[in-house]
Formats: sequence, structure tokens, C-alpha cells
Amino acid sequence: MLGLKLETDPRWANIAESNIEEILTDHAWCEQKAATNAIKLVSLNSEHVDLVTELLVIAQEELEHFQMVHNIIKERGYTLGPERKDSYVNELFKFIIKGGNKHQQLVDRLLFSAMIEARSCERFKLLSTTIKDQKLAKFYHELMVSEAGHYTTFITFARQYGKGVDVEKRWEDFLLFEGELIKSYGKNETIHG
Ligand SMILES: [Fe+2]
Ligand SMILES: [Fe+2]
Repeated sequence: MLGLKLETDPRWANIAESNIEEILTDHAWCEQKAATNAIKLVSLNSEHVDLVTELLVIAQEELEHFQMVHNIIKERGYTLGPERKDSYVNELFKFIIKGGNKHQQLVDRLLFSAMIEARSCERFKLLSTTIKDQKLAKFYHELMVSEAGHYTTFITFARQYGKGVDVEKRWEDFLLFEGELIKSYGKNETIHG
């Protein structure tokens, strides 16, 4: 799915389902981070009109996702806990090439974003087809579709702005790195856990 090298062990969905309160809180903060990342990309690349236009749409959609998860948290009588760290995302961030020219930096940041969208999409798909709670399953299906759209946008812009960069090679490098990284995950009730 989406070029991922390793599929999530389906048992992860059972772990997630066993602690809905925790997965919802973690998920809410993932959406906040996705919105923040899109805004950060705008501030780093403000000269590209088409990119800024699409990133502002993504930032709004991620904020909407954050609000949707928060509404579910409230409906279920929970409260949004403190911000969770996402060690998967932090590890992936280290793979971004530091320095280099602006095209290389933009391509890497876009591929980093596409990678997280791809894995999130895969996790949402698994939740939507596995968990017993039908309301949540439908919600995760909707998010899967939305995050797949973001994945496509990030990949498309990486190809568009990758002048002088072998984008396909770099994407394959990301996929291989992520395929190794994800082997240490799949054990916790977090979206990328
Ligand atoms: Fe999202
Ligand atoms: Fe997204």
C-alpha cells in the first residue's frame, strides 16, 4: 500500500482498540502536528504560490481533523490529555538531509510529510477494517481517504520542485529507511506506536 515496505501487524489494531482513550488523545495530537508541519512548510517556502495555496488547505484540513477527534473525545466523556511525543516521527525527521540546496531541503521535507501521511493512511485503513466500534471505524475510513489525498499532494509537489534532485531515488530511500524503522513499532496504542 502506497509503496510501504512493511505492513503493520494487524494485532496492533487490537492493542489500539484495547485503549480507545489513549489512541484518541495520541491521534488528536498527531493531527495538531500535521497542521503545524503544513504551516511550517509555508513559512519555509513562502515564494511558491501553488505550494502555499495547497499547504494552507492541508493545514485547515488537519486542524479540522484535530477538532473532529476532540469532539469524539468529548462525546465519550474523556478529556484531551497532554501533548504526546511521537518518537516514530522524530526518528523519521532525523532522516531529512540537513544543509544542501533549497530544492533538496524542500524535497526532503515534502517526502518526510508524504511518508507520515502514507503510514497514517495505512494505520487508519487497518483500524477501519478491524475495530468493532462501527462509529470509529467509519471515522477512520474517512480520515484514510483524506490522508491519502495529502500523501498525493506532498509527493506531487516533491516531483514538481525537485529540480536537480533524483526524487524517485530519494523516495525509495525514505521507504527503505521507514521500512526498517517501523519494525520497532506496532506494539503501542498510539497512531504510529
Ligand atoms: Fe489528518
Ligand atoms: Fe494529513
